[in-house]
Amino acid sequence: MRALLRLLALCLLSAGARAFVSPHASTGGGRGRSASPSAPNEDEEGLMVTIAKVRRPLGVILEEREGGRGVEVLDIDPRGNAAGEDVLVGDRVLMVDAAQCADEGFDAVAGRIGASASERVELTLGRRVGTVRIIWPNGVQSGALPGEPLRELARKARHPVKYACTSGSCGACEHRLRTPGDEIRYTRICVARVPKGKEVAQILPGDRF
Ligand code: FES
Repeated sequence: MRALLRLLALCLLSAGARAFVSPHASTGGGRGRSASPSAPNEDEEGLMVTIAKVRRPLGVILEEREGGRGVEVLDIDPRGNAAGEDVLVGDRVLMVDAAQCADEGFDAVAGRIGASASERVELTLGRRVGTVRIIWPNGVQSGALPGEPLRELARKARHPVKYACTSGSCGACEHRLRTPGDEIRYTRICVARVPKGKEVAQILPGDRF
């Protein structure tokens, strides 16, 4: 609860800031290139790297990873500048412009972003290999591995879902799922998981309940 309050406070206080950031909390995640930029530690293995050049203000919330080693994208403002760029919720920030920051804490990374002299901040992001890009109706894009529960991802993406039975039987949470090459199909967020074998999946509002 304290972490949540602090995060909210930071958001409210930082309305004009270049990035929102929150120390501490949870865990560690398109198009990507290959491995990490240099001398990866064991934590960075299995990450593919992508670069996003994002105009200020970024419109993202960053969160320090457990142990203070690195930060990751916790949230993206759907109306912010990062929303249309190759930035996913769950991405790790490995570099800001030319500076390595994969092992740095929240304050250091936020400082680098704030001090960037470029009009667009260049973020080198680490993303888990096999990540599926989930595009939510509010425009937020999440990165998740096949099999991860959509319910948790919807919560992190701040996409509001109506739940009732939470067991897949009532249809209250039903949405539609569009994946390349497939017909649109119905999915119930309370029990659905990230599809396998897809690079991207778009979640659309339901039309039956
Ligand atoms: S909440 Fe009933 S089907 Fe999901």
